[in-house]
Amino acid sequence: MHASLKINKLRRLFVGLTAVAAAAAATSSFAQLSDDAVRARVDALMARMTLEEKAGQITQHFVFQEVPKEEERAAKEVAAGRGGSVLLLKTAADINRFQQMALKTRLGIPLLVGFDVIHGFHTVMPVPLAMAASWDPAVAQEAQAVAAREARAVGIHWTFAPNVDIGRDARWGRTVEGAGEDPTLGSAMAVAQVQGFQGPYIGAPGRVIAGPKHFAGYGASIGGRDYDEVDLSDSQLWNVHLKPFKAAVDAGAGNIMSAYMGLNGVPASGNHWLLTEVLRKSWGFKGFVVTDAGAAFDLTTHGYTRDKPEAARQALLAGVDMEMTKPFDSQVFANLPELVSKGEVPVAKLDDAVRRVLEAKVRMGVFEKPLVDEAEAAKVLADPAHRDVARRAAERSFVLLRNEKQLLPLKGSSLKSVAVIGPLADSAVDTVGPWIFAQNDAETVTVLAGLKAKLGAKVKVDYSPGVSMPKRANKSIFPEPKPVTVDDSKEIARAVQMAKQSDVAVLVLGEAQIMSGENASRSSFDLPGRQQELLAAVMATGKPVVVLLMSARPLDLKGLAPQALMQIWYPGTQGGAAVANVLLGEVSPGGKLPFTWPRNIGQVPLHYAHLQSHFTHAMTERYWNEPNSPLYPFGFGLSYSSFEIQDLMLSQPSLKASETLKVSVKLRNTGARKADEVVQLYVRQKAGSSARPVRELKAFRRVSLDAGATQTVSFDLPASELQYWSAAVRRFVLETADFDVFVGNDATAKLAGKFQLEGEAIARP
Ligand code: NOJ
Repeated sequence: MHASLKINKLRRLFVGLTAVAAAAAATSSFAQLSDDAVRARVDALMARMTLEEKAGQITQHFVFQEVPKEEERAAKEVAAGRGGSVLLLKTAADINRFQQMALKTRLGIPLLVGFDVIHGFHTVMPVPLAMAASWDPAVAQEAQAVAAREARAVGIHWTFAPNVDIGRDARWGRTVEGAGEDPTLGSAMAVAQVQGFQGPYIGAPGRVIAGPKHFAGYGASIGGRDYDEVDLSDSQLWNVHLKPFKAAVDAGAGNIMSAYMGLNGVPASGNHWLLTEVLRKSWGFKGFVVTDAGAAFDLTTHGYTRDKPEAARQALLAGVDMEMTKPFDSQVFANLPELVSKGEVPVAKLDDAVRRVLEAKVRMGVFEKPLVDEAEAAKVLADPAHRDVARRAAERSFVLLRNEKQLLPLKGSSLKSVAVIGPLADSAVDTVGPWIFAQNDAETVTVLAGLKAKLGAKVKVDYSPGVSMPKRANKSIFPEPKPVTVDDSKEIARAVQMAKQSDVAVLVLGEAQIMSGENASRSSFDLPGRQQELLAAVMATGKPVVVLLMSARPLDLKGLAPQALMQIWYPGTQGGAAVANVLLGEVSPGGKLPFTWPRNIGQVPLHYAHLQSHFTHAMTERYWNEPNSPLYPFGFGLSYSSFEIQDLMLSQPSLKASETLKVSVKLRNTGARKADEVVQLYVRQKAGSSARPVRELKAFRRVSLDAGATQTVSFDLPASELQYWSAAVRRFVLETADFDVFVGNDATAKLAGKFQLEGEAIARP
């Protein structure tokens, strides 16, 4: 085989890159156009702008089309030159219509069009938490490249994604949008998504600007309650929550969204330290900052400012460049012209913000091509290659949690009948998950549809929803699809009968999509409604039971242990096809949990990278009534094969601050089929100027291996990765210390080695 062909083939095998991802794989740089060229164009434009036009450029109007009055209001503002950007328009025709309005204003500056492209646009990828569960950044990069291509085709220039908030308390509904509890996995997913969205540079064809959010700490809201205050120690902030943001900024993200809540008493969207000291000055962020919807207005809600003008002044001076308004007139930046005229806001500050927004427009080419070709857009949305990416991403995201007596994969050849049961088994809206507004439900393959298509006419597939999906106790901020409603008692009896008459029962249980996402926190991990009762009744038949959990939080089955249990998240447009491929054994599951799975909700927050404390011999006995250990550890996931990880080798016993340690292990597929394993490397600094976590993930790799094959898996661990923010000396340190290193296939990895770091000697005060 020709050498380059061979390399390409290998690349595809191990990294799983397809053509779309290969284009995205080039390193992302901030820009292709030179700073000087962009600046000259923007300066010329700004010299002609009035203060009102400047304030308009940095105001983004919310167009939630489900609320027609909103659209009318936004259109009026844009036509009057009081809007530089809009969000949530979703068709090429509507976007073109708004662009035409902007082109008719005095200066004719086109709009920058934003949208929540969180996990797909028309083609829906698995939710971001699921992509993180693939432990394969290439999957996330490829999926977001497809999402970008579809969005850009209809005229969208910018996505409010990735969400890089660390989620350590799954009561918080937005856990679904992030990468889970760990900053190393979170940073890898953040970088991959920024590269997938933006491509090699801002303005690349078929790509959009990425806007990592919500800066910063949003995932740590008290009690897991969405929007509520966040109280984080500096150590938690620097060592955990800020890390993925820093990684995303270093990867060239063009935008950052400031968060709603107060961070340690100072609202994030008016927080000068966060937005200017950290983001701009320390990290050198070159893009523009947008508030979350209505977050500038909310400075007054927080009691941080007295009124709208003061909120506008504080947000701008803190470092916000653009105000995202929320529905129904919450605008505050409209006050800026008057504040500048009165000398309360320096015009230079306003100009900085306007310049950054206009620079983004220049780089995205909106002046050259404000309108899109609607027919071309339709073609891009219909591209079948996009569905393939969605299916493959879903297949790689599933996490097999139990598989007693190797129930899975189902033996297709001897299978005669399957009972598919559960309120989520045939629900297209739930299969795609939250944060999706532009899909075609008819195209979505539910689990029932996927299994029917895969099993064909020879296998009898019966279906019962089993029970109703209950409604939320309060109204969602999003349109609520009609939930499945049946007579529960009768339907449970019918489902039991069906299970009795089938070879196997496949139950699809969990939470409706409206129970996860924004404004969807929850104080329970129980199966909603009477699903627990349904599960118990079907298990009582003695038939083999496979449970597929559709959710973005750990659910509590209250001790019930079905023979097979697989977490399928919200798997997207092709979810059912992916499930069928995995259940029937075409693909072996290889995903791993991106969070620690507690036994019950009383344990949260629970994460593996905790600090060590008194009474270590009874570490798992912190509660008198039950162990505080997790039900499944972080990084856990089974496969249809089995693996051995051995022969841990370290390139040197000690390393200097400028050096890189090489760590390698031998991975062997000891089972009878080709499958994937995720090799995970954790370290522990044994003593330091501040106490360090019991272990922290530092590297990982998902590897595909044939039955019986062995591969050496090597990691580079640069000493700089061992740096951390020390609360004792209040700065980043890289200390002389002893380290343990652990390699394995979850956070309990036992294969261990040791090394020393020759760093600084820290004198504690
Ligand atoms: C509010 C959410 O917090 C944010 O994540 C989203 O991007 C905006 N609304 C726009 O929909």
